[in-house]
Amino acid sequence: MSKKDLDSQEALLACFDRPCMLVDSEQVTYANDAAINLLGRHITGANVRLAIRAPVAISAILASESSSVTVTDIGTPGSVWELRCELLSKRQRLVTMQDKSEQQSIARVHTDFVANASHELRTPLANILGYVETLNDPKAGGDPSTRKRFLGTIRGEAERMQSLVSDLMSLSRIEAEKHRLPDNSVNLNDICNKVAEEFSGDAKISRKIPKQPVLVRGEEAQLSQMLRNLIDNAFKYGGADVQVILEMVISGDGWVKVMVTDDGEGIAPEHLPRLTERFYRTDPGRSKAVGGTGLGLSIVKHIVSRHRGRLDIRSETGIGTRISISLPLVES
Ligand SMILES: Nc1ncnc2c1ncn2[C@@H]1O[C@H](COP(=O)(O)OP(=O)(O)O)[C@@H](O)[C@H]1O
Ligand SMILES: [Mg+2]
Repeated sequence: MSKKDLDSQEALLACFDRPCMLVDSEQVTYANDAAINLLGRHITGANVRLAIRAPVAISAILASESSSVTVTDIGTPGSVWELRCELLSKRQRLVTMQDKSEQQSIARVHTDFVANASHELRTPLANILGYVETLNDPKAGGDPSTRKRFLGTIRGEAERMQSLVSDLMSLSRIEAEKHRLPDNSVNLNDICNKVAEEFSGDAKISRKIPKQPVLVRGEEAQLSQMLRNLIDNAFKYGGADVQVILEMVISGDGWVKVMVTDDGEGIAPEHLPRLTERFYRTDPGRSKAVGGTGLGLSIVKHIVSRHRGRLDIRSETGIGTRISISLPLVES
């Protein structure tokens, strides 16, 4: 290849964001900035074995045919790269690398989610099948009081599955629309009052909500669900005689903040960063006993982000929990 051809090849590779190298025989003759950032300054002019220390990568680069391999832990631990090596001539090779770390981690989150969801559904299902089996046995199933008790358990487990399926469907619906900000303006004021009234029958909830309409771009059903999940948690995990306050504050900078505060048991600090993860509970036994699915706050997080809002969780054990949601106001 002429000097001019080589120069233009290098000029072309310099434009790429992904790491690219030219290898002649075993020597790296050119590395673009991205390759130097990833592998270090020393690679230009070095033998490939010294430039990339991963054995899979070296054998792919030195193979007699073009190939593509996955290489891990280059640059940062846990990173995943797809390395492609194309034969340009008998001696010359073009090596390009593409960062697959993010795709890999999305794929892992997805697999974990499917595994967790299946596990959560399988437990109540196994219980239902077990009790049905026992009821079918004339010895155990014949006694009316045992029958009644077992049927009660079966109903409870079926309801648990129903809440799980309904929360899973909500999550997937919200996720499917996450890039589309709702078109409608809704009055957050009305939504807060309606949801608070749903709870006012059996518990103490005080409201501090302004009288005038507070307009945000949003979907009423989702915003209601978000508030319902927060208030529900406050009553469920707050402990006996918990006081819950639903408060709305309009800040001068075009945002409205809705806060759900309880004076309950609070949450230990080590749990706070993980609360919005799917199926994360501070006390799984307790959550299941009160009919929790472990998806409530994850749904809240997705609804807030779809509405381009901000979520803030503060809690102190023995003092209580405050969850605040800020949403941009519709400009009047
Ligand atoms: N107000 C609160 N006070 C104490 N703990 C809470 C509160 N809100 C949430 N939590 C904790 O956070 C966990 C996750 O909440 P959530 O996502 O709604 O799931 P679920 O209620 O179905 O268990 C709960 O299991 C509970 O341990
Ligand atoms: Mg909940």
